[in-house]
Amino acid sequence: MEEQKFATKYIDLHLHLDGAVTTEIARELARLQGISLPEDDKELLKRLTVPDDCESLNDFLECFALPLSLMQTKEGLSEAVRLVADACKAQGVIYAELRYAPQLHCDQGMTQEEAVQAALDGISKTDLKVNLILCCMRGEGNEDANEETLRLAKKYLVEDGGVVAIDIAGAEALFPTANYRELFAKAKELGIPFTIHAGEADGAKSVKLALEYGARRIGHGVRSFEDPEVIQLLKEKQIPMEMCPTSNRQTHAVEDMSAYPFMEYFRQGLKVTLNTDDPGIEGTTLAREFRYMEQTFGLTPAGERVLLENSVEAAFTTEKVKEWLRSELGLNK
Ligand code: ADE
Ligand code: ZN
Repeated sequence: MEEQKFATKYIDLHLHLDGAVTTEIARELARLQGISLPEDDKELLKRLTVPDDCESLNDFLECFALPLSLMQTKEGLSEAVRLVADACKAQGVIYAELRYAPQLHCDQGMTQEEAVQAALDGISKTDLKVNLILCCMRGEGNEDANEETLRLAKKYLVEDGGVVAIDIAGAEALFPTANYRELFAKAKELGIPFTIHAGEADGAKSVKLALEYGARRIGHGVRSFEDPEVIQLLKEKQIPMEMCPTSNRQTHAVEDMSAYPFMEYFRQGLKVTLNTDDPGIEGTTLAREFRYMEQTFGLTPAGERVLLENSVEAAFTTEKVKEWLRSELGLNK
């Protein structure tokens, strides 16, 4: 029998555009738009990446100001999408669902719709196979902006090659999932598929609500273990979980990484997938996340095959693309 090998090709289902800006990408975007950045690379890296003393998701989210400031024009946003997608491809990613919140790109007069069109322009210029997830944002006073994101998701929704779903990102502990029941009821009514960041900074109850609303996938879901009933629900419904270990360590979603539940969820038959979240901010890549799980948690080549099969199944795309992915990943053998 042929010896099974560790993965060299990957799928990233949970990847934030603003969190994927590296120093190289930041410099390119700044040059293009005549924006000045710290000249010292170390200083720039410090401003772009999460500090060692990051204590929570709230601290982590402060790192997004600089990358967002480089994506406030159509040109900057489109080019950011292309550069991030190209960088993923160079690291072995063959399919990515890139998410971003159009409402965070309107500081200099761009409308959300223009921000959607700019990102679509960006994906047309990369060789990576990419679909877009539009994020609504947790917060206060942005109800209209979230409604607009929903409207645009419906308007631009396709089965592949563009906007394929929505999500909600931001500070989960401060603005709980319970506040967004109506938003997701509308998304369901409009037939827009959605994933929800849940069980990351807030507990298992957040995951339970996301499932009740009809989420097709859960962003993170790492704290689901806090309620065995939620684990049972995830298992019965086989809802894919978009897990992102380095992000979870840095945001302290779990305090003790030696008890990180990734392998436990996997053994229990939950539909786990492995993703990056914010590779620029975290200083990681998807290949590194796979090596991290191998070296620290004993993930095997056979385990990786199951993870990749889960990612293919969970992807918001057509059966045709999924067949192509299976063949690229050698999953048909
Ligand atoms: N935006 C970027 N990364 C995020 C995360 N891990 N949780 C919530 N919102 C985010
Ligand atoms: Zn995320």
